[in-house]
Amino acid sequence: EKGGYDTFMEKEINEQPSAVADTLLGRTDAAGRLVLDELRISEDELRGVNKIIVLAAGTSAYAGTVAKYAIEHWCRIPVEVELSHEFRYRDPIIDPNTLVVSISQSGETMDTLMAVRYAREQGARTIAICNTNGSTIPRESDAVLYTHAGPEIAVASTKAFLAQITAAYLLGLYLAQLQRKLFTQQIRDILGALSEIPAKIQQVLETSDDVKELARNMKDTTSVLFLGRNIGYPVALEGALKLKELAYIHAEGFAAGELKHGPIALIDEGQPVFVVVPSPMDRHSLHAKVVSNIQEVRARGAKTVVVAEAGDEAVRDYAEQVFYVPETLPMLMPLLTTVPLQIFALELASAKGYDVDQPRNLAKSVTVE
Ligand code: BG6
Repeated sequence: EKGGYDTFMEKEINEQPSAVADTLLGRTDAAGRLVLDELRISEDELRGVNKIIVLAAGTSAYAGTVAKYAIEHWCRIPVEVELSHEFRYRDPIIDPNTLVVSISQSGETMDTLMAVRYAREQGARTIAICNTNGSTIPRESDAVLYTHAGPEIAVASTKAFLAQITAAYLLGLYLAQLQRKLFTQQIRDILGALSEIPAKIQQVLETSDDVKELARNMKDTTSVLFLGRNIGYPVALEGALKLKELAYIHAEGFAAGELKHGPIALIDEGQPVFVVVPSPMDRHSLHAKVVSNIQEVRARGAKTVVVAEAGDEAVRDYAEQVFYVPETLPMLMPLLTTVPLQIFALELASAKGYDVDQPRNLAKSVTVE
């Protein structure tokens, strides 16, 4: 049942090319237009959406943060991401033009279910992005966009995360199409780039020996920091979460720009810092800013490990180690940069002898508030 792998986690990480491919499958019609047929909200209602609130917890919330960057960029609709357990208790402002998008692998997380119920009571339209057919959250939502990652057994989420991001991109492109925020050709180009992602994930998987070796060498590490910026920020948060969940190591993710406002005080000799570097093609030139963050932490003794895009030579001089991922559109990079961080956490936890499928204290779906 583990398909030749030692653990479900390893199997699920390796299933990510098909998780993304299957989530993309059958989403365009003969004319190349996007069709999300599980969407039961009228197109008119979706044309009127002027605010999106994403509700989720854990890894799913980080998929929501990736979605925020992409959807705001493509659709020019403001997107708030709210941890579902915080949402109900802050008198959120919702009206019929607010679209609430819940993201839940299991579809049973009580915090998220209660938040969705509350949003509906307040008059919002609700869409569930979910990996589990017929589960409670999709049943209680106005519409569903299923991810097709297949059953995820390991408690810590991997393939469902990439599938959630993929589904959220599709939702963003669908809204951009309906609200005419992107040209048809732009949408086609993004879909084209998305269709190349599964093969690129496969490439990352096949070139991960260095990541694994580093993880084994770092098994006695007690703290790891992760930096990311823009759409790479939630990737840093997810990298840190995987390490906490699987290896029980203190790990924290930061927005790279925040470094100078506090976290840089943590850096001393030998402190491992992983940096998710934006594409050199990023339209805001964030690449140079993050490269100088790498220099800053390195000058203070940090051991820098960098995840960057193939061809990005600028990072080499400042990194103890660089893991390259294939090129793609800047907005799609999380589907690739996440993978080495997952493999790192899996391998380090395995080297420590931990049960990566059933980490201590955690449950696959938490059905109490
Ligand atoms: C946690 C799981 O309890 O719930 C995480 O351990 C998961 O792996 C989180 O990301 C949210 O779960 P779901 O099913 O709502 O995506």
